[in-house]
Amino acid sequence: MPLEPIGKTLLVTGGCGFIGSNFLRLALRAPAAWTRIINLDKLTYAGRLENVAGLAGDPRYSFVHADICDPEAVAGVFAEHRPSAVVHLAAESHVDRSILHPQAFVRTNVEGTLVLLEAAQRFWASLEGSAREGFRFLHASTDEVYGSLAPEAPPFTEASPYAPRSPYAASKAASDHLVRAYSATYGLPVLLSNCSNNYGPFQLPEKLIPLLIRFALQGRPLPVYGDGLQVRDWLYVEDHCRALLLLLAAGRPGQTYNVGGEEERTNLAITEQVCRLLDALRPKAGGSYRDQIELVADRPGHDRRYAVDAGKLRRELGWRPHMESLEDGLSTTVAWYLEHEGWMEQVTGGGYSGWIAENYDRRGQS
Ligand code: NAD
Ligand code: DAU
Repeated sequence: MPLEPIGKTLLVTGGCGFIGSNFLRLALRAPAAWTRIINLDKLTYAGRLENVAGLAGDPRYSFVHADICDPEAVAGVFAEHRPSAVVHLAAESHVDRSILHPQAFVRTNVEGTLVLLEAAQRFWASLEGSAREGFRFLHASTDEVYGSLAPEAPPFTEASPYAPRSPYAASKAASDHLVRAYSATYGLPVLLSNCSNNYGPFQLPEKLIPLLIRFALQGRPLPVYGDGLQVRDWLYVEDHCRALLLLLAAGRPGQTYNVGGEEERTNLAITEQVCRLLDALRPKAGGSYRDQIELVADRPGHDRRYAVDAGKLRRELGWRPHMESLEDGLSTTVAWYLEHEGWMEQVTGGGYSGWIAENYDRRGQS
C-alpha cells in the first residue's frame, strides 16, 4: 500500500527561526489553510521556542525537536506525518558566523539539505496519483549565491551565474545545486526561492537592524562595517513568507524564483533611519542615537551590493509586497522591538554575549 499524505500536511524546517516563525504564523492564518503544520527544528542558538510560543495552542500545529542532519530522525518524521509539501528554511544563516566558524554551515546547509532531500525523495517515490502530483519541496535560498554586484549592474535575475563569496553563501549555493540535482535526477518536484535581505519582527539581534536597535538602547557604539556604503535590497519578512505560500500553491516545479523588495539602501542609510525612528519613539537625553554610529573594521570579503529582480514572481504569480515602503516597514519594525524588549532579553541570553564579544570586541575602527 503506498503511503498517502495525511490531509494537507506541511512540513516546515527551521520554524523556530526568524523567517520560519513568521512563515508559520502566516500559513496558519492563510485562507486555504493547511490541515496540519509540523515544525522540525534543532533549536540552535538561532531557533527559539519564544518565537512560536503563540502557536502552541493551535491543534493544527506541532513541533518536532530534531536535526536535519540526522537521517533516522528525518525519515521518521516523513513516515509519521506523511507531508504533502516541505518548506525548507532550516539553516545556519549568519554571514559573520560563517567567516569565523564555517564547518557548521557545511554540515547543516549542505549535508542537512541532502539528508532532507533524500528522505523527501524516498517518501515522494512511494506516493501515487494526485498525492505524487501535488507534492512539493520548496527550498528557501538567498540572493547571496549570485555574489557581489557592481554599482550600476542590473539586479540579479534567475539566470545570473552563481558566484558565492562567503562560506555561508557557498554552502547555500551547494544546497541549491543539490536541490536542482534531485529534480533532474529523480524528478522530485522542487521549487527554489532566492530572496534578498529580510527584516521585521523576531529577527535575532545578531543581524544588522535588530542589532542596531539593541545596541542603541544599550548606549553602545553602532558598528557599521567599512565605509557603510555597501548596498542591500530589503524586504519585509511577511512579504517573503507570502511569496513562499504562493510558490507552494502555484509555482512551477523545477523552477527558481527570485524574491526581493526592490528597496536598495546603503547600510549607513539604514543605520541613520533606525536612529531617526528611535529618536522619535524613544528620545534619549542630550543628543541623537546617530552620535553612537561608528565605522568599524570591514567584514572580510564583504559583498558590495545585492539587488534582486523579482519580475518572474510578479509576472507568473502576481506577487507584490504588501508593505508600502521600506520606511513604513522600518517604522513598524522599530516599534515592534521597542514593544518586545522582554523577548529581546530572552533571545539574547545564553551564548549571545559570547558571540558579540567575539565579533565586535577586538574589531577596531575602519
Ligand atoms: P535563522 O538563523 O533565524 O533560523 C534558522 C532556523 O533553523 C533556526 O530555528 C534553527 O534552530 C534552525 N536550524 C539550524 N540548523 C538546524 C538543523 N541542523 N536542523 C534543524 N533545524 C536547524 O534563519 P532565517 O533568517 O530565518 O533564515 C531562514 C532561511 O531563509 C535560511 O535558509 C536562510 O538561508 C534563508 N534566507 C534568509 C534571509 C534573511 O534575510 N534572513 C534571506 C534569504 C534567505
Ligand atoms: O541577502 C540575503 C541574506 O541577508 C541572507 O541570506 C542572510 O541569511 C542574512 O543574514 C542577510 O545577510 P547579510 O550579511 O546581508 O545580513 P546582515 O544583517 O548580517 O548584514 C547586513 C549588512 O550590514 C551587511 O552589508 C553587513 C552590514 N553589517 C552587519 C552587521 C551585523 C554592519 O555593517 N554591521 C554589523 O554589525
